[in-house]
Amino acid sequence: MEITDIPAGSRSAADIDEILAEAVDFATLINRASGLGADFDPRSDEVRQQLLSDNGYVTHQTWIGRLGGAIVAKGIAYLTLQDNLDVADVWCSVHPELRGQGLGSELLAAMEANLAAQGRTQLTSYCEIPPAARDADLRSAHLAAESGAGSLPVAQPDVAFLIRHGFAFKQLERCSVAKTATAAKLPARDLDAGYTIETWTGPTPEHRLDQVALLHQRMSTDTPGAEEFGEEEKWDAARVRALDAKRAEGREQLGTALALKGEAPAGFTEVAHFDDRPAVGWQGSTLVVRDHRGHGLGAALKVANHQAVGESTQVERIYTWNAVENSWMLAINDRAGFATWAWVGLWKKRLA
Ligand SMILES: CC(C)(COP(=O)(O)OP(=O)(O)OC[C@H]1O[C@@H](n2cnc3c(N)ncnc32)[C@H](O)[C@@H]1OP(=O)(O)O)[C@@H](O)C(=O)NCCC(=O)NCCS
Repeated sequence: MEITDIPAGSRSAADIDEILAEAVDFATLINRASGLGADFDPRSDEVRQQLLSDNGYVTHQTWIGRLGGAIVAKGIAYLTLQDNLDVADVWCSVHPELRGQGLGSELLAAMEANLAAQGRTQLTSYCEIPPAARDADLRSAHLAAESGAGSLPVAQPDVAFLIRHGFAFKQLERCSVAKTATAAKLPARDLDAGYTIETWTGPTPEHRLDQVALLHQRMSTDTPGAEEFGEEEKWDAARVRALDAKRAEGREQLGTALALKGEAPAGFTEVAHFDDRPAVGWQGSTLVVRDHRGHGLGAALKVANHQAVGESTQVERIYTWNAVENSWMLAINDRAGFATWAWVGLWKKRLA
C-alpha cells in the first residue's frame, strides 16, 4: 500500500480540493459500513478543514493509503498544539472489502512511527459500536473497561484490532440521541437563589469570553476519567475567540447555555449544528464547576439549551456522549429523553 501523510497546512488549497471529494466519499463509505447512520457521515467542510489548516490550538494529520491509485485506507490524528504535546488521538479505517489483510496494521504502524518521531508518544483512540452489534452475542467474551464500568465484545473487529495493537481499553461511553421536541415539553426549573442561566447562539459574547474560557479549562480536568486523557488545557479569552472563529469558518453554529452565580461562571453546556445538516445537533461540553454542583444546574442548563436551540434553529435531534460511570449525567439525559444510539470505547497506548 502506498501511504501519503498530510499534516494540515502542508498542501495548497488547490491540491487539497483535488483529493477532497475522493476523501469524503471514502469516509462516507466507512461510516455507512459502521451502522451509525447518515447523521454521522463526514461533512465536506470538516474534511477540507482537517486537511488544510490548523487554528493555532488544534491540528490534524491525515494518512491516505492507496492500492492501484484508489483510496483503500485512511488514518487521522487529532493533535492539540498548546498543551498535551506528547498526545495524539488516532483513528484508522480500511475499505470494508479489504479488511483482515493487514492493511489496518500497516497504516497504524506508519502513523505510529511518524507520531513518535514528533514526540507524540501517548496515543488515544476510540471505537464506535451500534447497540445491535454489542448485543448480538452477549455470551461471547467481553473485555471490561479499566474504569470498572462497562465492557465490549472482543470479537468485534475494531475492538480486536485495538487490543492486538497494544491499546488498553480505558473507558466506555454511551452515545445517545434526544429530540428537541422532548425538551420543549419539559417545564423550566426554578433555580436556587443567586443563580441565573443565559442562552445565546453563535460566537461567545465579548463580555462572557473569560467565563467561558474558565469553564473550558475546568472541562479538561473535571470530567470523569479526564486525568487518563491528558493534562489540564490552558484557556483564555483569545483561545475562545479563536475557537469561535474556526467554528464560523467551518459553518458550525453553537447554541450555548451559561450558568452564573452573580458574575462567577458556574457551568455551561453547548450544542453545535452545521448549515449543511441543519436537523442534527451535537452536544458539546457540559460542565458544572465543583463548587456549584448539587443545585440541579446540569439538568437546568441542558433543558434551557435544548429549548433555546429548538426555538432558534432547525435542530430536531441532538446526539451526546457520556462515560457510563457518569451516572448523574446519564440520569439527567434519560430525563431529557435521550436513548442509546451507540457504545464508544476509549483506548490508550504508550509508544516505546
Ligand atoms: C479496525 C480496522 C481499521 C482494522 O483494519 P484491518 O485492515 O482489517 O486490520 P488488520 O488486517 O491489519 O488486522 C490486524 C489485527 O486486528 C484484529 N482483527 C481485525 N479484524 C478482525 C476481525 N474481523 N475479527 C477478529 N480480529 C480482527 C486481528 O487481531 C488482526 O491481527 P492478526 O491478523 O494478526 O490476527 C477496520 O476493521 C476498520 O476500518 N474498521 C472501521 C474503522 C474503525 O472502527 N476504526 C477503529 C480503530 S482505530
